[in-house]
Amino acid sequence: MEVRIDECTGFCFGVKRAVDTVYEQIKSGKTIYTYGPIVHNEEVIRELESQGVRVLEGVQALEALPDGKEGSGHSAMVIICAHGVSKRIYEILEEKGLEYVDATCPFVKRIHGIVEKESSKGNYIVIVGDPGHPEVKGTLGWCRGDAAVLETVEEAEKFVPPEGKNICVVSQTTFNYNKFYYIVEIFEKKGYNSSVVNTICSATEERQRSARALAGEADAMIVIGGKHSSNTKKLYEICSGECANTYFIQTLDDLHLELPKSVRLVGITAGASTPNKLIEEVQNYVRINF
Ligand code: F3S
Repeated sequence: MEVRIDECTGFCFGVKRAVDTVYEQIKSGKTIYTYGPIVHNEEVIRELESQGVRVLEGVQALEALPDGKEGSGHSAMVIICAHGVSKRIYEILEEKGLEYVDATCPFVKRIHGIVEKESSKGNYIVIVGDPGHPEVKGTLGWCRGDAAVLETVEEAEKFVPPEGKNICVVSQTTFNYNKFYYIVEIFEKKGYNSSVVNTICSATEERQRSARALAGEADAMIVIGGKHSSNTKKLYEICSGECANTYFIQTLDDLHLELPKSVRLVGITAGASTPNKLIEEVQNYVRINF
């Protein structure tokens, strides 16, 4: 039996940059806070917590931090996570005089710029993505005026833009590429006046394409990633569509594989914030046990 790791696994550029930023700041000796988990992987967060990094869960936790204005003696450093935050969070950081480093992935920053500009022109913003995901919540916080978040084809079918408004459609960086274009087609068929910017990041696009190809060949597929990781959930969705024996695990402990003798190829893929160490552990386990 062959075990093959998808060639596109490992930290993506944005996650690596964010995690490296935190390790860099730890050296400063300041109290390090991340606004939200720096990435959606519990292993990574646990490791950072063991080094003293604290996670601020939401705006109240940020507001509760002592002001960092000169002379307060408080040496805190807040790191904005790879998923980005709303404009209001930057304002609070400034108002409180807190030192901060912005580790928002540049692909996400680009979306903030687009929605801010387009909504300032009076266009209605449609974000195709998960309304509960921090990235989407952050992006909403850069829209001037109302905006909509649509996640499913059904929602897109039902959506009607406000009278007389042009719509500007963007996507969450980790959205399913094919599904995004399907939703865009719905708008086109309805004849909406829309400008569409595909803001799915290239790392996500490549990973999805490569996972789909591997799942298409494999008899069983293992998808590793955090349960809150949007891009991992999308990989699972894609792989399940290609391979009926697809397993979603966070760590090796979740893996309860039952493989029939006929299995020839097991494929492994992982979300953008899954550490290589974990991928290798899973690979070794499957090699040794089957
Ligand atoms: Fe950035 Fe794409 Fe990774 S948006 S954080 S490079 S998945």
